[in-house]
Amino acid sequence: MTSLSGDAWDKLRQEPPPMELGAEAELGPADPSAYTIKRPILQPPPVERHGPARIIAMANQKGGVGKTTTTINLGAALAEYGRRVLMVDFDPQGALSVGFGVNPHNLDLTIYNLLMQRDVGLDEVLFKTNVDGLHLLPANIDLSAAEIQLVNEVAREQTLTRVLRPALKEYDYILIDCQPSLGLLTVNALTAAHGVVIPLECEFFSLRGVALLLDTIDKVRERLNFDLELEGILATMYDSRTTHCRQVLQRVVEAFGERVYQTVITRTVRFPETTVAGEPITTWAPSSSGARAYRQLAREVIGQQSLRQGM
Ligand SMILES: Nc1ncnc2c1ncn2[C@@H]1O[C@H](COP(=O)(O)OP(=O)(O)OP(=O)(O)O)[C@@H](O)[C@H]1O
Ligand SMILES: [Mg+2]
Repeated sequence: MTSLSGDAWDKLRQEPPPMELGAEAELGPADPSAYTIKRPILQPPPVERHGPARIIAMANQKGGVGKTTTTINLGAALAEYGRRVLMVDFDPQGALSVGFGVNPHNLDLTIYNLLMQRDVGLDEVLFKTNVDGLHLLPANIDLSAAEIQLVNEVAREQTLTRVLRPALKEYDYILIDCQPSLGLLTVNALTAAHGVVIPLECEFFSLRGVALLLDTIDKVRERLNFDLELEGILATMYDSRTTHCRQVLQRVVEAFGERVYQTVITRTVRFPETTVAGEPITTWAPSSSGARAYRQLAREVIGQQSLRQGM
């Protein structure tokens, strides 16, 4: 998948149209899957060997759109399907680490040390979660210093690429949870990645800023990472009771077509609850709709990867 067509760009650059009050009659169905494009979603075959990993960055400079929640739960769901998954906390807030019950303040070694000190090995920083095959490189506030310190490094944009290289053969997927910014850390993530997943909140202003994110992805592709793909757009926080959610989803599918995952993540308090529990929704509430949605997303991601590998 390469750049968007001119038409899609134009749509994204436009301001959203004013909401038409009383337009209820024209509203589409509440079920989000009515809007997304359907493809067969197959049961993933078991894997006998692991790697090489596909590296996927979760990026959106807008805050609170579900990047961390998606990293946690897509990671856990991929691991349930027998894939080995490494999650990288690439946000100094350390929300991904907290999501697995890790207290970021108590960590001696984090991804920061891997980036800045060549004598620290991946195994020294690796945290094994309660989910089999699901590992984490945690982060804490130290990482914010890396953004400044890296500026003076040679090949500063490729630092994460170098750090992750030894992990490629060990894992099937490496998921990078980006911070809500388009700074040097996010550029490092985009440079290391094969694909970018953009979580988009089904909110009226969610498309604002997406053009800038796509511009950044294009620049990284031109200058640093020729093969970078838009892995997919994930609609999150969908609330079928609000009419504008449906309009936003419709618009997102108009703009991005089949790049939008068929899976839509519904808004539910169960996600904030899992943060308190310190575990993924797939283990905390295994039969909840949220858990099922992330399992379906995992099947879509594995399906795309099988297609790429010609399987
Ligand atoms: N589908 C959902 N329904 C309800 N709440 C959700 C959902 N997904 C995420 N949340 C909650 O919304 C908040 C923001 O989600 P999350 O941390 O995943 O976003 P983020 O994009 O990583 O944010 P940031 O940009 O700050 O890193 C969290 O409290 C999370 O528990
Ligand atoms: Mg986050």
